[in-house]
Amino acid sequence: MAPSLRAKCVNDSLNAVIETTDNAISQFLVSNKPPCLHRSGEFVYNPPMKVALIFGGRSGEHDVSIVSARSVATALHNGGHEVLPMAIDHKGLWATDGESQRILNGSGDRPDQALSFTGAHRLNPTLLKDSFDVAFPVLHGPFGEDGAIQGLFEILGLPYVGSGVAASALCMDKVRTKKMFENDRLPTAPWVTVTSHAWRADPDALRRRALDLGLPLFVKPSRMGSSVGITKVIDTESLDAAVETALRSDTTVLIEQGIEAREIEVAVLGTTKPRASVPGEIVPGDDFYSFEDKYLDDRCQLIAPAPLDAETTEQVQSLAVEVFRLLGCEGMARVDMFLEKTTGKIWINEVNTIPGFTSISMFPRLWSLSGFEYPALLNELLRLAIERYNNFRRI
Ligand SMILES: Nc1ncnc2c1ncn2[C@@H]1O[C@H](COP(=O)(O)OP(=O)(O)O)[C@@H](O)[C@H]1O
Ligand SMILES: [Mg+2]
Repeated sequence: MAPSLRAKCVNDSLNAVIETTDNAISQFLVSNKPPCLHRSGEFVYNPPMKVALIFGGRSGEHDVSIVSARSVATALHNGGHEVLPMAIDHKGLWATDGESQRILNGSGDRPDQALSFTGAHRLNPTLLKDSFDVAFPVLHGPFGEDGAIQGLFEILGLPYVGSGVAASALCMDKVRTKKMFENDRLPTAPWVTVTSHAWRADPDALRRRALDLGLPLFVKPSRMGSSVGITKVIDTESLDAAVETALRSDTTVLIEQGIEAREIEVAVLGTTKPRASVPGEIVPGDDFYSFEDKYLDDRCQLIAPAPLDAETTEQVQSLAVEVFRLLGCEGMARVDMFLEKTTGKIWINEVNTIPGFTSISMFPRLWSLSGFEYPALLNELLRLAIERYNNFRRI
């Protein structure tokens, strides 16, 4: 056997032994830890934990969620936690345990590497059994990031990672968050709202209001993500098609003035005392940061930390924390901003309460530069979930 091959075999067997031992240790720790008291009193944060990892879902970001969940599951295992996978199919049906595990075991962190499956239950029976410590929804977009599943956890009395019902619903809704920013005089790009009803009733009036903002325009569904349904409109003739495209994803559409800007993202962690990460920068490979650019083309660059001067860094960090507090976020969020190229002005774009979690995603990358490597980041998120749950119980 060639030396390098022998070395590889020895390495592989060693890794297998280490992996088996790690699993045995983590199983021992999980099965011997005291119960978490989330029915009879205060919840005890007592890692390692049994984590219900929920992924897939009904939104257009179903595949993105699956690949995010794979990274989260690996990091949770590395941190010694036990993962109970719970996959939800495109129609909202929950897969069996075996099927959920199969989807999670698939390899790849690109959405086109997600596996397809069909669910079997209207609700996962394990959710009702109290057989885990905390729920971790790694679900992006409608029904996962918008307060819907958070409401289910509240009804079941389960601690869960991330923001509560109201903040999740608010951050999912671009029109409503913009109204909040406007109310607090925080900078957000000028916009008009278009409902499907108003568009059918009087498209001319809406066209005029939209075009008054000036070209280019960004036309977006109010409650979506991953750039699904978004069009950059560079001429008057393309506006109608852009509105129709956005209306396929939501009944409310946002038409926004295009800002010629650098795209800056800051990750925030916390409950009562949120902290900001170092900022990162997205350099789209496409005309804008489109779905293809985010997940398929491999042309965009994620730069972390963003090359910004100290003053701008401080400004984007404190704005991110201000926005996190304003919207009532808890646990985690990624606050996305525009840094206008000509003026240096900072505009808030949007807030993601369940940001992408693949190994190359910005949220874990920014925290790895700001004091939390991936497994430590997940420990912190679990700890914050319990802190939030206990804060709420004390009221
Ligand atoms: N007003 C705008 N000016 C310039 N670019 C924009 C604007 N709005 C959106 N974009 C571009 O479209 C991308 C996706 O828009 P965003 O509002 O973040 O939606 P999503 O929730 O789908 O990520 C942004 O990252 C940016 O590249
Ligand atoms: Mg975005």
